[in-house]
Amino acid sequence: MGKALIIGAGGVGNVVAHKCVQNSEVFKEICIASRTIEKCNAIKEKIDGGPVKVHTAQVDADDTSQVIALIEKFKPDIVINVALPYQDLSIMDACLATKVHYLDTANYEPPDVPKFEYKWQWAYKEDFEKAGITAVLGSGFDPGVTGVFCAYAQKHHFDEIHYIDILDCNAGDHGYPFATNFNPEINIREITANGRYYEDGKWVETKPLEYKRVYNFPEIGPRDMYLLYHEELESLSKNIKGVKRIRFWMTFSEKYLTHLRVLQNVGMTSIEPIEFEGKMIQPLQFLKAVLPDPASLGPRTKGKTNIGCIIQGIKDGKPRTYYVYNVCDHEECYKEVGSQAVSYTTGVPAMIGASLVLKGLWKKPGVYNVEEFDPDPFMEALNKFGLPWKESFDPELVD
Ligand SMILES: NC(=O)c1ccc[n+]([C@@H]2O[C@H](COP(=O)([O-])OP(=O)(O)OC[C@H]3O[C@@H](n4cnc5c(N)ncnc54)[C@H](OP(=O)(O)O)[C@@H]3O)[C@@H](O)[C@H]2O)c1
Repeated sequence: MGKALIIGAGGVGNVVAHKCVQNSEVFKEICIASRTIEKCNAIKEKIDGGPVKVHTAQVDADDTSQVIALIEKFKPDIVINVALPYQDLSIMDACLATKVHYLDTANYEPPDVPKFEYKWQWAYKEDFEKAGITAVLGSGFDPGVTGVFCAYAQKHHFDEIHYIDILDCNAGDHGYPFATNFNPEINIREITANGRYYEDGKWVETKPLEYKRVYNFPEIGPRDMYLLYHEELESLSKNIKGVKRIRFWMTFSEKYLTHLRVLQNVGMTSIEPIEFEGKMIQPLQFLKAVLPDPASLGPRTKGKTNIGCIIQGIKDGKPRTYYVYNVCDHEECYKEVGSQAVSYTTGVPAMIGASLVLKGLWKKPGVYNVEEFDPDPFMEALNKFGLPWKESFDPELVD
């Protein structure tokens, strides 16, 4: 049916490539392209030889002209951007220039300002409409599946949605005293920022990790979770009509937070460049270089993730509560694709979103967040491609 150009060959790129070759009904050819071609070739080696033709290429996606040249050579129907958020706009520019569909899993963030928001990418809406191409934003797990869960709840279970709590629990243990499960730079920037949630049409700012709750996660047990700002809050507050409050919670162990506090206190999480032995370096980038590569955590990580949405509202005039979530096992993921669950839960939805665009089910010219599409084929594909979901109408609530 179609050809996909996957940009980024990290933990998530590895999963996307594995999942595309599992879905040969939709993907006929893929090209894995990244800054370091050896990483692309290593993935190709693991998945080659089946019905889906696999190519690799070197590209610096910060340079739009290089992405355009690669698109013109490979002629994909869609570009799946699983590089870093810093490359979103240069890749979107290349898609516009070549009239190719676009999908990503994280919204744009300028490299020198720790601030992510959709305004830069939403600004492309008219240009994508005019070019007749679709951009699907945030098709990972969170953002991604969490938005689809909300759209599914809206479509099937509620007349009005009032409260949404998104709960992200990673109970995996990799055995290192401290490591981040995906790109350390993005991860640390997310946690050290102020928290924020949406209530009654306004944003309420909190200090970093100011709000803590203990939640008893199905199949995992009680875990400490903290209120964070997360990018899907911005689009869901617009797209889920009538919502009164949306909050996002993520679990962190005391050990993880203690390490982070120390690193912060000594200045290692700063993005302000400093001079070191005659060279300018960013402390956070240096920290990334000394921490374990997230891709290396796969074989060591045991335990499960549980990510889902607790939604409260009204159906047929009566109050209703609905919890929809996925539980994913790190070791099972590693056995299947050679990556742990954080990469797996991001890569599977990226492949699914791209497959729905190629099938024409999620094709509409413009720039959209996942909750703006029909959730049903996506929910069905989650069950088929390794992220089955469960639901409950009587969950424990977050106070
Ligand atoms: N929505 C979600 O649920 C979710 C969850 C986790 C992660 N994510 C997102 O998924 C994306 C990938 O995460 P990851 O864990 O796979 O990260 P990763 O392991 O750091 O991999 C990133 C890949 O992008 C490549 N890259 C970086 N800059 C590039 C450039 N200028 N040109 C070409 N390639 C470039 C890297 O190449 P090198 O190897 O040469 O550095 C690497 O192969 C990130 O944007 C992250 O924010 C989303």
